[in-house]
Amino acid sequence: MVTAIYPGSFDPVTQGHVDIASRASALFSRVVVAVYDTPSKKLLFGTDERVDLLLQSVKQLPNVEVTRFTGLVVEAARRIGAGVIVRGLRSGSDFEYEFEMAYMNKKLAPDVEMVCMMASLPYQYVSSSLIKEVIGLGGDATDLVPAHVMDAVQRKMRSPE
Ligand SMILES: Nc1ncnc2c1ncn2[C@@H]1O[C@H](COP(=O)(O)OP(=O)(O)O)[C@@H](O)[C@H]1O
Ligand SMILES: [Mg+2]
Repeated sequence: MVTAIYPGSFDPVTQGHVDIASRASALFSRVVVAVYDTPSKKLLFGTDERVDLLLQSVKQLPNVEVTRFTGLVVEAARRIGAGVIVRGLRSGSDFEYEFEMAYMNKKLAPDVEMVCMMASLPYQYVSSSLIKEVIGLGGDATDLVPAHVMDAVQRKMRSPE
């Protein structure tokens, strides 16, 4: 019985994130997707909204839960009882940052392992920031985000707050 935590900003969740959560759910008995309250980036959605969008996106996966956290990922992992941190790796952009984080997390919590899963080919270049830009400019992001996420981004761009 291994619980994994899948932490991130999820602003908003994309099919790339759903793909990682789904593949992780086949590897671990329990996967907790954890929405980071206060990432050091400009957010479009509040924490409750990011959690709600995720809940709707993973409801078909019985062993996947969604929560929010603040502070260190390794502390959230301890609270949840997770022995594994799952992260997704896209070609090029993610490796250096994830390696740095993995090293620091190992220093802070040697008992917690990090498992990186390669992004699936169709989602290799899908990022929340690009999705927001494309939908904001009137582009069609069907296939790259769940339908309810596209609606939510369109609504938010029309009337922020
Ligand atoms: N298209 C994608 N395919 C696979 N993994 C992804 C994709 N987009 C993001 N990820 C991974 O999901 C996790 C959360 O991403 P993100 O929401 O950007 O939060 P963070 O601010 O922690 O990077 C990270 O491990 C990131 O590399
Ligand atoms: Mg990121």
